[in-house]
Amino acid sequence: PARTVERPDGRLYVGGVALDELAESHGTPVYVLDEAEVRDRCRAYRDAFPGADVHYAAKAFLCRALAHWVEEEGLGLDVCSAGELELAVTTGFPPERILLHGNAKSPEDLRTALRLGVGRIVIDSPAEIARIAAAVGPGERQRVMLRVTPGISAGGHAKVRTGSDDQKFGLSLRDGHAQHAIARLLGQPRLRLTGLHCHLGSQITDVKPYLVAVRRLVGLMARTRDAHGVVLSELDLGGGHGIAYRPGDRALDPAALARRVRAELAESCAGAGLPVPRLIVEPGRAISGPAGVVVYRVLAVKATPERFFVAVDGGMSDNPRPALYGVRYAPRLIGRRSAAGPRRATVVGRHCEAGDVLAEDVPLPSDVRPGDLLAVPVAGAYHLSMASSYNLVGRPPVVAVAAGAGRLLVRRETQADLRARDVGL
Ligand code: LLP
Repeated sequence: PARTVERPDGRLYVGGVALDELAESHGTPVYVLDEAEVRDRCRAYRDAFPGADVHYAAKAFLCRALAHWVEEEGLGLDVCSAGELELAVTTGFPPERILLHGNAKSPEDLRTALRLGVGRIVIDSPAEIARIAAAVGPGERQRVMLRVTPGISAGGHAKVRTGSDDQKFGLSLRDGHAQHAIARLLGQPRLRLTGLHCHLGSQITDVKPYLVAVRRLVGLMARTRDAHGVVLSELDLGGGHGIAYRPGDRALDPAALARRVRAELAESCAGAGLPVPRLIVEPGRAISGPAGVVVYRVLAVKATPERFFVAVDGGMSDNPRPALYGVRYAPRLIGRRSAAGPRRATVVGRHCEAGDVLAEDVPLPSDVRPGDLLAVPVAGAYHLSMASSYNLVGRPPVVAVAAGAGRLLVRRETQADLRARDVGL
C-alpha cells in the first residue's frame, strides 16, 4: 500500500504526517523515516527467504530505533565497526544475530566483537586468521566465515563493485587463495569456520550475478569437502539489492531473487552431492532506503542562460551520493500546490563547491522560490550514515513517522556539539 499520499492542496503525507508540518516543527533539513515501511520491507524479506537468515546491513543507516524495529521483525544485523556493533547491542540486539565485517578491522573492533559475543566474524584477509585466533580466549571457539571474491563484476557504480578479484575485499577464488585460507582456518582450534561469504556490489538490479556467485561458492564448498572432509553449513550472498530512486527505475524484487537463488542453490548442491547450506542475505539499502525522505527548504534561486538553479539548505554534507556516484534523484515541491508549468532545474546544496549538486536537470514548477520546501524521496540509506559536518553545518535530525504521529529519533547536531570536540588552542 502506498504510504506516501499527496493531498489535493499539494501537501505530502508520509505515515499519516504532513511533511511540511515536520519541517516546521523540526526545522530543515529533516530526515523522515517511515516505521511501517521499514517493518514491511523486513517482513517482505522474511517471507521471501523462509529458512534463511536476513541480516540488515547497518552501514545503510543505523540508529537505536531502527535497530529495534529490525530486531523485532526477526532480522539479524551486519555491522562493520565497534560503533555499529555497540549501538545495536546496547539497544538490546542479540549479539549472536550479528555478523562483523571489515577488510581492516581495528583492535577495538575485534575486542568489542569478542567481548560482546558477536555471532560471526567474517574473515577478509589471510593475516586476519591468526590475529583473530590469537584474540579468542582459551577454551573458546569463535564462529567465523570467509569472505571470497567470486570474480564477478556487478553493481550500480564502479565504486561499489566488490565481487571482482582485484580489490581490497576478500580472498580470490583464483590461484587457490581462498582454498589456502580455508585450509589454515580449519587448523585453528579457536575458530570454527561455518561457511563462505561474498558481497558482489551494491545497487544490483539483475539476479544473474547472484546465481553465478552461488555456483562458484558451492564449487568451493565441494572442493573444501574433497580436500578436508569438511562440509560447510552456511552460504552468505551479501546484499546489494537495487532499489528505484526515481519513478520508472529498475529494482531487484526480493521474492524473485529468493526464488531463483534457492533453485540455483538446490541444483548446484545436488550436482555437487552437498547438503543445501543455510542461506544468509544482507540487504541494507532495500530495507531502509525507500522508507526515508528528506525535506529541504529552498534558500535561493537563480537562472543563468543555461540553467535554473534551486539552492536548498542541505547538500553534499547530508547526501554525498550524487557527488560520489552520480546518482539521480527525483525532488519535488511540497507544502503548496503550484499551477506553474514545469521547468528543468538543477537542485544544488549550500556548500562551498560547484560539485554540490543534489539533482541535475529535474522538472520543478517554474515558480519555485525561496521559502518553498523540496522533498527528496528514497533518502533512508547511505545519506545520514555517510553524512559529514562540512562547512561546520550540523547533521540533520531523524524523525520517525508512524500512525499519524512523528517522533524525534536523532536530534540535529548543534554548533555546541561540533565545538565540543575542538579542545585545543
Ligand atoms: N553486505 C556487505 C558486506 C556490504 O559491504 C554491503 C554494502 C551490504 C551488505 C549492503 O549492501 P546494500 O544492500 O545496501 O547495497 N555508499 C554506497 C553503498 C556502499 C555499500 C557498501 N557495502 C551507496 O551509497 O550507494
